[in-house]
Amino acid sequence: MNVILLGPPGAGKGTQAKKIVESYSIPHISTGDMLRENINNSTPLGIKASSYMSKGELVPDELSITIIKDRLSRTDCSKGFLLDGYPRTIPQADALQMILTESDRKIDVVLNIEVYDEELIKRLSGRRMCKCGASYHMIFNPPENDEICDLCKGKLFQRDDDKEEAIRNRLTVYKKQTQPLIEYYTKKKLIRTINGGQDIPQIFKDIKKVLKEYD
Ligand code: AP5
Ligand code: MG
Ligand code: ZN
Repeated sequence: MNVILLGPPGAGKGTQAKKIVESYSIPHISTGDMLRENINNSTPLGIKASSYMSKGELVPDELSITIIKDRLSRTDCSKGFLLDGYPRTIPQADALQMILTESDRKIDVVLNIEVYDEELIKRLSGRRMCKCGASYHMIFNPPENDEICDLCKGKLFQRDDDKEEAIRNRLTVYKKQTQPLIEYYTKKKLIRTINGGQDIPQIFKDIKKVLKEYD
């Protein structure tokens, strides 16, 4: 099953992706996570990407396309994959289609998670991360101890782009560059809309109901 998670920043793509890949045993492919890993390791790619990301801009298409092409060629994707945060522009979607066609694969479904702007801002400004990959929200999904990860006891931190100015820019960038993908995939009859304004377990239930049709 080859699935795309589409939705604005803070929609809950990462939160739901963790649950989906556990249930369906497919790899979770997040270009955002891969880029942040490159930044932490100061790779040439990370160095190029970091100034765009901290401002909430998209990195140039050629960077994200290179990363995704490499990732999708690995053997763990042969039984399916879940894309989170890719594609984000029409050229990225076209490139994806080419990569998949070359290897005789296709996208089965695009889950479009819808959430209002005000709620997105609340979610992003309250998010805290851990270096182990865990993600919390200080009000909606709090850790037992305000600053410490429940799983690994690491110290929680805020993502650079979860500061107010970058959040606003990310929402603007989403509307301009990513939202056109909804029409793009609607034309291909691949879009299924998910109400992302509900609580985390209910959204997951709705997602599972849709994915059942494709499993
Ligand atoms: P990326 O890492 O993909 O960030 P994003 O799309 O901005 O989305 P987020 O990760 O912020 O939100 P999410 O939807 O995963 O929400 P989450 O589950 O964490 O990209 C970051 C940057 O990398 C981009 O700005 C760009 O620079 C670059 N980049 C990445 N991919 C690229 C590409 N393809 N091309 C170009 N550039 C690219 O949830 C958010 C918070 O809400 C959490 O605190 C969570 O606990 C909470 N929450 C989740 N669900 C609920 C709920 N139902 N109710 C209440 N709270 C909830
Ligand atoms: Mg995410
Ligand atoms: Zn942790």
